[in-house]
Amino acid sequence: MTRYRELIEAACRVRERSHSPYSQFRVGAALLGRSGTVYLGTNVENASFGLSNCAERTAIFRAVTDGETEFEAIAVCADGESPTPPCGACRQVLMEFGPDLLVITAGERGADGPCTESTVAGLLPEAFRDFRPSKGNS
Ligand code: THU
Repeated sequence: MTRYRELIEAACRVRERSHSPYSQFRVGAALLGRSGTVYLGTNVENASFGLSNCAERTAIFRAVTDGETEFEAIAVCADGESPTPPCGACRQVLMEFGPDLLVITAGERGADGPCTESTVAGLLPEAFRDFRPSKGNS
């Protein structure tokens, strides 16, 4: 886990920029691209609740916008003592960029508190990946 201490710390720091006046639940994400660049994201909520975006997807969308689509790991740091696992929508969006992407979660104590480490494939088994019938769906 210590291998990704810096990434976890970056996620914890950016969590402070979360726009979450409705849930009061701050989440930060730090996504490590294969180039070595780290892309940050927070959850951004809206008065029309369904328009809110999770931290993980904010980070992915920033990276793709900047031209990076290959990733090594994403660290997610949320309020509370226990790590928060990514929601289903974020798992599906992460899967788009590969089943082997490492997903590290931490609570508000970051790398000094409880953390988990898994892959996107581990979090989303039997994922939908390809809509073309001739190519299958695995
Ligand atoms: N949230 C995230 O940012 N990432 C997750 O993986 C789970 C949930 C956000 C969405 C919303 O702004 C708040 O946490 C409460 O659900």
